[in-house]
Amino acid sequence: MNDLSALPADFVWGAATAAYQIEGAVDEDGRAPSIWDTFSHTPGKVAGGDTGDVACDHYHRVPEDLELMKALGLDSYRFSIAWPRIVPQGSGAVNAAGLAFYDRLVDSLLEAGISPNATLYHWDLPQAQQDRGGWPERETAERFGEYAAVVADALGDRVKDWATLNEPLCSAWIGHLEGTMAPGWTDLTAAVRASFHLHLGHGLAVQALRAAHSDLRIGIVNNLSPIEAATERDADVAAARRADGHTNRWWLDPIHGRGYPQDMVELYGVDLPVKDGDMELIAAPLDWLGLNYYFPQTVVDDPTGPAPYAKMAYLPGLRRTAMDWEVNSDGLETLLVRLSEEYGARKIFVTENGSAYPDTVGPDGQVDDPERVQYLEEHLAACARAVKRGVPLAGYYAWSLMDNFEWAYGYDKRFGLVHVDYATQVRTVKGSGRRYADIIAAHRRRVRRAA
Ligand code: FCB
Repeated sequence: MNDLSALPADFVWGAATAAYQIEGAVDEDGRAPSIWDTFSHTPGKVAGGDTGDVACDHYHRVPEDLELMKALGLDSYRFSIAWPRIVPQGSGAVNAAGLAFYDRLVDSLLEAGISPNATLYHWDLPQAQQDRGGWPERETAERFGEYAAVVADALGDRVKDWATLNEPLCSAWIGHLEGTMAPGWTDLTAAVRASFHLHLGHGLAVQALRAAHSDLRIGIVNNLSPIEAATERDADVAAARRADGHTNRWWLDPIHGRGYPQDMVELYGVDLPVKDGDMELIAAPLDWLGLNYYFPQTVVDDPTGPAPYAKMAYLPGLRRTAMDWEVNSDGLETLLVRLSEEYGARKIFVTENGSAYPDTVGPDGQVDDPERVQYLEEHLAACARAVKRGVPLAGYYAWSLMDNFEWAYGYDKRFGLVHVDYATQVRTVKGSGRRYADIIAAHRRRVRRAA
């Protein structure tokens, strides 16, 4: 068993989900469509024609899902709040019934001794706001700040840990440049403008949260990848530098007051619609950084490309998940050390980490997922190594609490510690869920013994 004794006594053990991926109930209690409703209902966009209409039906099953969290022994639950439930048209009227759902969720979590960590935006932009231009337009950042104020006012007395955005890279680059996520555009100018307005929205949300309550702990969640060149060829080395700019520095530099990386500004060649004071707002001090880590990237030059003209090389012989993502826990250690040493992070959470495998329920009713167990153990060991190297890592959230709607991959890709049978909505804790519970319990025993 890997040595996790370096993890601090108050290490936060969590699991994460996101609203559109689990809630279902897309037209109940005043919720209006989001860009993901539109996208998933557009033929050809999501594998198998799957949508989030029902998903894990979590909206109607909070008590049952809370029992799962208790069974795992979680300290904290990371979830996202659906903007289209709270301000269904993106701006204007607030929907009390939408707020009430999260109000009940938060109270139940607190009653169970599980601390809520809420993300304000996990990709489900109200469609009405998209119709007014979406993230490429400044107005969306402003509306996001207003929505943040509404949520902070309603829940900030009880929810103390907040993330503004989940993986703005995916919203901007995958949603507006690659086009395989909502809203499904392939337009570099729109993508770069979206990235800037996402950052601005983040800054406005931080301001709104701080104004509502002075004791909130606020962060942002980025998905990052360590990047290497596949060969020593100059062209590939330059491609790796560009890919690092596109994937990592573009998302880290501005929130740390360093502005946008100049090499990437020149590469994209798109004017950033920055107004006076914007960059200061974007760089407002945060209490923590969230890191979502899945895989490292080895890249080659791709001159015909979309920006950043680099593409992942498919290296044979590597361990891979059902997503075809390389399994490499060293990459997690590398990124944690980078956030701490290069960006001076004072508190980091791994806000997502996990793996998809084609799990099935066995004849005995059990779900055995040894590969996910190994993935979990290896990545937790990487966390412990990072802590030994001085990284201020405060907690780990497994992706995901349960199998769910995996965006463009639909329900086919299962990331859960808990298996979901979508036909019956029966939940079954997998072997990895039981292993996670054991790891958490062992950590608590170690802490008690040391006290
Ligand atoms: C991340 C997303 C999360 C989930 C995992 C597998 O990019 O934040 O919603 O889809 O990937």
